[in-house]
Amino acid sequence: MPKTITITGAAGQIGYQLAFRIASGQLLGPETKVNLNLLEITPALEALKGVAMELEDCSFSTLGKVITTDDPSIAFGDSNFAFLVGAKPRGPGMERSDLLIENAQIFSAQGKAINDNADQNIKVLVVGNPANTNALIAASNAPDVDSRSFSAMMRLDHNRAIAQLATKTGFHNSDIKKVVIWGNHSTTQYPDITHALIGSQKAADLVDQDWIRNEFIPRVQNRGAEIIKARGLSSAASAASAAIDHMREWELGNSQDDWLSMAIPSDGSYGISEGIMFSYPILSSGGDYSIIQGLDLDEFSLESIKASEKELLEEREAIKHLL
Ligand code: NAD
Ligand code: LMR
Repeated sequence: MPKTITITGAAGQIGYQLAFRIASGQLLGPETKVNLNLLEITPALEALKGVAMELEDCSFSTLGKVITTDDPSIAFGDSNFAFLVGAKPRGPGMERSDLLIENAQIFSAQGKAINDNADQNIKVLVVGNPANTNALIAASNAPDVDSRSFSAMMRLDHNRAIAQLATKTGFHNSDIKKVVIWGNHSTTQYPDITHALIGSQKAADLVDQDWIRNEFIPRVQNRGAEIIKARGLSSAASAASAAIDHMREWELGNSQDDWLSMAIPSDGSYGISEGIMFSYPILSSGGDYSIIQGLDLDEFSLESIKASEKELLEEREAIKHLL
């Protein structure tokens, strides 16, 4: 049975990467056919047609039908997986939260369209910034869909943290497990390696505290801005790659000796206010996820997590009329 996958902003930078990787089987594997529903704003439909033509020219064995549209009710029709990418990116000198008011309307409209048209078991990943609060808006506007079907992307931060740790220690990315990003996809996020393992060793024993506090954490927190400064555009290929990692492991499960970082509706775990889209350490299995419970958090970790919660509560307050 083919799966229907919606990508919004499909003619944009991230969308252009995502569509081809999903069409070639990198999301659901070589045995599952995918139909792509590509959504854009009306002025970008011509460019989107070009994307569809290129998808056709790839002659992928895993690609079924491709729909291009500017109508969310068509784009989300019977959708099984939705990547909400379409939104304005920030430029140099901006914070992601500066996009909140401008991008918020997009996610209330798309939440309603998901509610009315998508498969009721849809999995939704919000990538467009500020991703966590946009995901909250979308979920709140889809009252008939379980809010656990909505998530926001922290996987890019998670992958960045692993890469920084690998570079510092000389180990390979694949040797590193149980890194966590807590909180918001913003500079208040808390990249936490307290519980991380490198092979059988504790990561925290292989690097010093000064490096963790003064280099590693700020580097990961500010990596998006570092990329914007270098490229003149925000991250795109790495963002698409992280989006596929997030959705694939949510659907198909992750290695059970490792953790994911996903922003999901808080259920109050670790004392975080319920409802906000907060990133936790996650285990995924059988198409569902659970929060890793009972981790010991030192004072620095607790303070860092609280600071990110505070920011998410402020963001929620700013868009409360859309909830
Ligand atoms: P882009 O400008 O290249 O593409 C965005 C596309 O979205 C454009 O083609 C635009 O026409 C389209 N769009 C705008 N409004 C739309 C709507 N209502 N419906 C459908 N499509 C719409 O931007 P990009 O570089 O692809 O980035 C997209 C978003 O992803 C930005 O908000 C960016 O900040 C964010 N982002 C998030 C992460 C993350 O880790 N969460 C990482 C990278 C980028
Ligand atoms: C990123 O982390 O690369 C994205 O959120 C883009 C940005 O604005 O930093």
